[in-house]
Amino acid sequence: MNKVAIIYSSIHHNNTEKLLKSAKGIDIYNINEINNLDFSKYEVIGLASGIYMGKFHKKIESFVSKHLKELHKIILVYTSGSNNKKYGINYKLSLESKGLEVLGIYSCKGYDTYGIFKLVGGKSKNHPNQADMNRFQDFINDLLN
Ligand SMILES: Cc1cc2nc3c(=O)[nH]c(=O)nc-3n(C[C@H](O)[C@H](O)[C@H](O)COP(=O)(O)O)c2cc1C
Repeated sequence: MNKVAIIYSSIHHNNTEKLLKSAKGIDIYNINEINNLDFSKYEVIGLASGIYMGKFHKKIESFVSKHLKELHKIILVYTSGSNNKKYGINYKLSLESKGLEVLGIYSCKGYDTYGIFKLVGGKSKNHPNQADMNRFQDFINDLLN
């Protein structure tokens, strides 16, 4: 078992899931398939999601509310059409106000066909790409070392 578990929601194009599946050294769990996960065995819990209307998926937010007492050290991972860093910073601040420690944030672009972007063939096509995945593996390696 690895020391980092990442719980994710990836509902648009599986961009976030694709990124997570590319990495070595982590255990990943789809939020829709978690059954009695004992995450007390993990040193670090990751919360990963696409960004929908400026926020992490609401199932991730519900998960945090439900398990607040069991969560301590967190990392945030997200993909979004714009790769706006504010999404991660805002969520970090919100989690810290609940007493959680956020050790790091990883973000990259993710293919986006929501709303008007569909009309122009989508935004951030081909992301996450190999460079995004390499950067994600570096982020994970830093955490593990
Ligand atoms: C309903 C909806 C809302 C979205 N809102 C935003 C947004 O506010 N900002 C942004 O940069 N991207 C936004 N996106 C694009 C997604 O964040 C992006 O495609 C992401 O990579 C999706 O991840 P997933 O495939 O893992 O679900 C939105 C996409 C959808 C479907």
